[in-house]
Amino acid sequence: MSGRLATEYPAYQKLQEIHDNEHTRLVLKDLFAQDPRRFSRFSSEYVDATDSSTTFLLDYSKNLITEPIMRTLLDLAREAEVETYRDRMFAGEHINTSEDRAVLHVALRNFDEFKIQESGVSEVADVLNHIREFSESVRNGVWRGYTGKTIDTIVNIGIGGSDLGPVMVTEALKPYAKRDLTVRFVSNIDGTHIAETLRLCDPERTLFIIASKTFTTQETITNAESAREWFLASAKDQAHVAKHFVALSTNTRAVTTFGIDKANMFQFWDWVGGRYSLWSAIGLSIALYIGYENFEQLLRGAHGMDKHFKETPLERNLPVIMGIIGVWYNNFYGAQTHVLLPYDQYLHKFADYFQQGDMESNGKFITKNGQRVNYQTGIFPLISQPIIWGAAGTNGQHSFYQLLHQGTKLVPADFLAPCTSHNPIGQSKHHRILLSNFFAQPEALAFGKTEEEVRKELGPGANEALVKSKVFEGNRPSNSIMFPQLTPRTLGALIVLYEHKIFTQGVIFGINSFDQMGVELGKVLAKNILAQLNRPEDVRGHDSSTTGLIHYYQQHRRE
Ligand code: F6P
Repeated sequence: MSGRLATEYPAYQKLQEIHDNEHTRLVLKDLFAQDPRRFSRFSSEYVDATDSSTTFLLDYSKNLITEPIMRTLLDLAREAEVETYRDRMFAGEHINTSEDRAVLHVALRNFDEFKIQESGVSEVADVLNHIREFSESVRNGVWRGYTGKTIDTIVNIGIGGSDLGPVMVTEALKPYAKRDLTVRFVSNIDGTHIAETLRLCDPERTLFIIASKTFTTQETITNAESAREWFLASAKDQAHVAKHFVALSTNTRAVTTFGIDKANMFQFWDWVGGRYSLWSAIGLSIALYIGYENFEQLLRGAHGMDKHFKETPLERNLPVIMGIIGVWYNNFYGAQTHVLLPYDQYLHKFADYFQQGDMESNGKFITKNGQRVNYQTGIFPLISQPIIWGAAGTNGQHSFYQLLHQGTKLVPADFLAPCTSHNPIGQSKHHRILLSNFFAQPEALAFGKTEEEVRKELGPGANEALVKSKVFEGNRPSNSIMFPQLTPRTLGALIVLYEHKIFTQGVIFGINSFDQMGVELGKVLAKNILAQLNRPEDVRGHDSSTTGLIHYYQQHRRE
């Protein structure tokens, strides 16, 4: 995050040489055959310093790495001053330079161990208490709607970081949920999203959470206004809004202007980035759904990984290890994408969540110093970070894994799985089948199947084209992460593992991982276009394609 181009570091040059000279010799099958200790050399068990049941195994041995490569990647991290920038983040320095802000999501789960000076940090505990009191009163039926009925549905209205984290976590931690409380999420400005959600709600028993850091986001405010209109159509009296609408925001004035009582506002601060905000008041829907105690466990798990990241030497620091291996593929192999493959249905939103986490953080072509990145960052030089995608196993196996195994693109993969399922139905028969796939896929990707093996299998006289089509070249890298069970605390640790991986990569790339200028242009253009949609003669200042599309809409709409 010094803003220096990564290519300027001596270790970068060295890595380039290693790649150019050795990459053809980096064959997983050979690397494993040559070193019986490869697994223990390149795997590590994380254990939370204050809770030994929060643990996971990271196996990174199926990567195209050797010890000298790892050493040089670690040199790169040191030359880029990952440790210094990490310490500056924890110290509350304004490392988000373009917005002149501290980056302190770590303060939201600090539990008093790191000394952090920044205004608002001392209020974190008060907001947590507010979340505790409020969530308990809704869950135990003390908080009631305008007709005296208990709340049975929570609707979180927010988008981006004010949506994706709570969506992912409430799905992931469903086994801990109060099942008679339903939580729904509305994010899209498409009226269908709110209309279909409201169809499932009873105005007397629904609580709306308006989640927006800025409280100016067009999608969220428009959806919130429609929700209020829908509610008032039944409740009739504006005074009843107080029982059914709460806000999560940094913008008190906009919240009160909307008509939400300040007492029903849960505060956070400008040093909490949207995509790092599930730990803040934005997590209210999580606390309501799984209970405050479990929400706190999530925070504690996150804090444990913060401590690990802050205090562990780089060569054993798991977010750093994952970060530098990612840089190896992104910058030296030209890998364009990275796939997240959780073998746990509860984690089916994990990849969606980290699409924002990773791509909004590091999808930038300008360094902190304003220089354009000049290193290979994927085939398209405009992409500074791989595209993140994925799906829960085994569904992906029946759709896109074909490309992972036999396509022409290198797609580094992370596989994640719990040892024990929350649903051990059929005496865990399902889970054993699931895990057999979790173990098999990285093995198949890494070691493939040779032509010789295929010939042997098909027998003499086999069709040549068929033989070739059944060859798996292998040598496709992956990480595997296993944990005993998906608990709130383990999930907290896993999310933060990725958060700090993203941080590490951002520092190496020399970019500011904490602004999101790239989402602004489209918003400004849309505002301009909105004012032109009524009349064809108002449509001005566009290219012929955009003008043609707007005219087509104007001719065909039925409103
Ligand atoms: O997409 C841009 C963005 O600013 C995200 O970073 C943020 O999470 C989202 O919009 C929502 O913003 P807000 O919480 O202010 O409504």
